[in-house]
Amino acid sequence: MKIYTQDGCLEVGRKAAQLVVAQMICKQKSVLGLATGSTPIAMYEELAEMCEYGDLDFKDITTFNLDEYLGLDKDNEQSYAYFMNTHLFKYINIKKENIHIPSGITKDIKKTCEDYDKAILENGIDLQVLGIGTNGHIGFNEPSDHFEAGTHLVDLDKETIEANARFFESIDEVPRQAISMGIKNIMQAKKVVLIAYGENKIDAIKKMLFGEITPNLPASILQAHGDFTLVIDEEIGDAIKDLLA
Ligand code: PGA
Repeated sequence: MKIYTQDGCLEVGRKAAQLVVAQMICKQKSVLGLATGSTPIAMYEELAEMCEYGDLDFKDITTFNLDEYLGLDKDNEQSYAYFMNTHLFKYINIKKENIHIPSGITKDIKKTCEDYDKAILENGIDLQVLGIGTNGHIGFNEPSDHFEAGTHLVDLDKETIEANARFFESIDEVPRQAISMGIKNIMQAKKVVLIAYGENKIDAIKKMLFGEITPNLPASILQAHGDFTLVIDEEIGDAIKDLLA
């Protein structure tokens, strides 16, 4: 595992963008696994800017997003499809057909999940970007008594609904379910980069790195990933440095 401790959330985003760029330089037809939430926004801004200046080319890049809220279509401002378009896709030269996000308005959830798994398997994710929930979730793999392997329907955790309420007018508007990649989808990525900043993520990061591997803290499975990079700010870095020594 490699850990980069950066000075503030913008630098966390910049370092994560550099890791994505390095992947794209090494492999022109890279397959990227992408995350939503507030954490990766600075990374997307950096990537979008580089593409706008002509320093980065997404024409051969394929992407798979981790998750989508059930019931929200791509034109809904709270959907992750809308988020990705607003923060990245509309600024870069990626081909529409190379963008994959689970459909939030599917009538056949089972088939949507199976098709998503099949497409991930066929393409193979080279680099998966992750955030982490305060409850240790990755994607929408919520704390549970077992790890879900493939793409699946999730009942969102109370803590996740509360945390994500800040993006909605009221907590009642936060969808209660989502479709998420599973733990096996994530673990099969060749490289995983998890980014986090802020005091509210310290506990989850500590448990992820030093706790037991348990579905109760889904990110803890990353201890078993062979190419795992963590990009954090100094606040988290300071909180874990004694444990790393
Ligand atoms: P956040 O969400 O980036 O908005 O904190 C991270 C996550 O829930 O994975």
